[in-house]
Amino acid sequence: MNEEVIVVRGGRPLQGTIAVGGAKNSVLKLMAASIMAPGVSSISNTPVISDVKLMGEVLSRLGALVEFSDHRVTIDTRTIDSVETPYELVAKMRASIAVLGPLIARFGKAQVAMPGGCQIGSRKLDIHIVGLEALGARFDISHGVIHASAPDGLHGSHVLLEFPSVGATENLMMAAALAQGTTVIDNAAREPEIVDLADFLVQMGARVSGQGSPTIEIIGVSELRPVVDYRTIGDRIEAGTYLVAGVLGGGPLTVTNINPRFLELALAKLKAMGSTIETTSDSVTISHTGALKPVDIQTLPHPGFPTDLQAQFMVLDAIAEGNSVITENVFENRFMFADEISRMGAEIRIEGHHALISGVKQLSGAPVQSPDLRGGAALVLAGLIADGETTVDSIEHIDRGYEDFVEKLKSVGADIERQVIDTGV
Ligand code: UD1
Repeated sequence: MNEEVIVVRGGRPLQGTIAVGGAKNSVLKLMAASIMAPGVSSISNTPVISDVKLMGEVLSRLGALVEFSDHRVTIDTRTIDSVETPYELVAKMRASIAVLGPLIARFGKAQVAMPGGCQIGSRKLDIHIVGLEALGARFDISHGVIHASAPDGLHGSHVLLEFPSVGATENLMMAAALAQGTTVIDNAAREPEIVDLADFLVQMGARVSGQGSPTIEIIGVSELRPVVDYRTIGDRIEAGTYLVAGVLGGGPLTVTNINPRFLELALAKLKAMGSTIETTSDSVTISHTGALKPVDIQTLPHPGFPTDLQAQFMVLDAIAEGNSVITENVFENRFMFADEISRMGAEIRIEGHHALISGVKQLSGAPVQSPDLRGGAALVLAGLIADGETTVDSIEHIDRGYEDFVEKLKSVGADIERQVIDTGV
């Protein structure tokens, strides 16, 4: 059988400019939100990645007409004639559950398959469901499918989230936009993608305020209108990934199309590691010389350190001069990456949700396997600094979230390519 892998040979200096695309975690939710406005919506700065294509498929299955061209997705939601999202799609992408709130809001019902246990932790749905129930939705979960209904429509409510879940905050904001009366979401997620979704909803005619703070207020309206050419924000995780590459390759490496405020804590950690950083309103330039200082990190909901950059920063701590601790507070089991990078000579001990890292002088290239999206990208980063050749397989994980990953790294000097290999099975 043939399999595509990424082969990287380490030790090249990296310099130049990389433009990041639109935020995956925004675009997926904006696409879902478009369901609520009968008509044709379009979103620009849309990355060409497999998760976005999958969300296109989810909407097509509902009956929408979805077209991609030139980093723009156009969605005609007038033809939606189904409220079902099958397991085969939800199993491929958990973010498919973002259609739950919009479907209940527009059609008063939804059937979405339960996502299975995900590799990066149990990722439950209880916070989504408790919140939507408070708005008047009723749920019946049977045969692996969530059957939701709101026969009398949704009504505003006060919802206190047990944890500032990104997905639950989004589902509730969307559902509340078409509910009767006022909804207040307390302990809401504050990620930049939440603010982007709120801005999109406002353009649709929704009345949302407080986005970006822990309390979001939504005054329900009776209908929403489609939005043409909404430009999504830049992808802070893609940007952070290339900034780590800049540290490994020395730089100066400039990442453009990104608001540095989205990366405040990550940039502070990079500075603490000894890197030099300059920012403009939509770019960050990084350079690094000399040894890396080890830095402790704990992941937390925004504005805390993003869990989606945990693995990439672990590469830096793995070669820093000394010991560090990375604590994962958002997802269980998000240290699979540590096992793979250990195969490249990193010294990492996992104790519960802490990774205890002793920096080594040099990583050594090895065949490794992407455990998930961010872990896969981080293995490629490790390969950039490792001695010899690193072959990363299961790269379909990386393609879920990074457009032209190999080409972008190559454009700043990396010795990297995609290869098709015969796996012999
Ligand atoms: C989103 C992002 C993901 C990012 C994460 C945290 C998308 C498509 N994905 O995922 O890249 O890593 O935010 O920033 O936007 N939880 C519950 N019950 C629930 C919901 C969540 O217990 O009903 C738990 C999860 O198991 C997890 C934690 O809360 O441990 C965070 O999940 P959440 O913030 O909901 O992340 P996602 O929206 O799934």
